[in-house]
Amino acid sequence: MSKEIEKAKDHFGKILEEQLERIEQMKTQKDWMNYEELKPIIIGVVGGDGIGPYICEHAKNILEYLLKDEVEKGKIEFRTIEGLTIENRAKANKAIPDDILKEIKKCHVILKGPTTTPKKGDPWPNIESANITMRRELDLFANVRPVKVPEKNIDWMFFRENTEGAYVLGGKGVNVTDDLAVDFKVTTTQGSERIIRLAFDYAKKNDINKVTVVTKANVVKTTDGKFLNMAEQVAKDYPDVEWDDWFIDIMTAKLIDPARRSQFRVIVLPNLYGDICTDEAAQIQGGVGTAGSANIGKQYAMFEAIHGSAPRMVNEGRAKYADPSSIIKGAALLLSHIGFSDLGKKLEMALDVCARYEKKLKITGRSDGATGKEYAKYIMDTIHNPDLESKWQDYQK
Ligand code: IPM
Ligand code: MG
Repeated sequence: MSKEIEKAKDHFGKILEEQLERIEQMKTQKDWMNYEELKPIIIGVVGGDGIGPYICEHAKNILEYLLKDEVEKGKIEFRTIEGLTIENRAKANKAIPDDILKEIKKCHVILKGPTTTPKKGDPWPNIESANITMRRELDLFANVRPVKVPEKNIDWMFFRENTEGAYVLGGKGVNVTDDLAVDFKVTTTQGSERIIRLAFDYAKKNDINKVTVVTKANVVKTTDGKFLNMAEQVAKDYPDVEWDDWFIDIMTAKLIDPARRSQFRVIVLPNLYGDICTDEAAQIQGGVGTAGSANIGKQYAMFEAIHGSAPRMVNEGRAKYADPSSIIKGAALLLSHIGFSDLGKKLEMALDVCARYEKKLKITGRSDGATGKEYAKYIMDTIHNPDLESKWQDYQK
């Protein structure tokens, strides 16, 4: 058995070196991009695969409509980046082929359609998720996901750590023997500190006096214990922001507990727990198709839907009926991130009016509902309506 153990130790040693190197990179990375001074801000549009290209096109059209003047002034430039398809990725045997990653890195922010993430046994090589690769390559350390259900008094903002935890080495586990498989979970001081600080900053800036930290530190004592300890350290810098901590299991219960869930406002959690809680929260909001996702780094940012590429819809010829709401919500987050928060809010209001209140068109994912194109036009017409704000306010009463 010593041969297998030696091999595993060697593998683990290489992982430790990589992670210590990553910590040094985090210590020395450039500060936040200043979008106000940037000209042009290059928005890369990456359709992805499955329903990705369909829904991404609708979101891009809405962004181009809202940013028309800014494009004419040279403040904004759109760039379409083709080829991030499972077929191309399989051919290159890479989550993101080098030439496409090079094009992506020439942009400042990315609007990305869903991409297929294969698993063992699929008709594709078992390559890493394009999302995970992009988050790592662009150091998009914060996965920020808003979920709002006014009528249930729910107004949650999730800050999910996006570059470490159980994900950073998800593809580097080791089968020590035929019986023993080992994966790795990583937590660093720098990786925890920056996501927790971003959550507290957001709470402070928005006068929200509540941050909830979610871990399983009572069992996962080293890595989750570090995350919780970092929260205790960071919280000292925000004496006016109240905070509490919950374990992930009971947290998933409290998110569906009407007596408790409204107390949560800003929620910060390690990667895997954030992945789980944000799908649950999106379902409470009306389905994963209703939530958008902002992957924020200091130099880059990527905005997306939180659902997958739904290949089944494409195979069944229903792709044109795919609901573009989630990626359009991502587009609203993109607008706010690059300094057009008024346009971002307008788009969010139009999404609300169309999906939650007026519902002139229903999107069902099938031919008995509207196509994504028709729905996107409904949203654009709603944005164009000069009474949008007053209409939206009335619905809030
Ligand atoms: C998400 C998705 C991804 C994740 C998958 C596609 C790798 O579930 O963005 O929430 O697990 O982060
Ligand atoms: Mg997910």
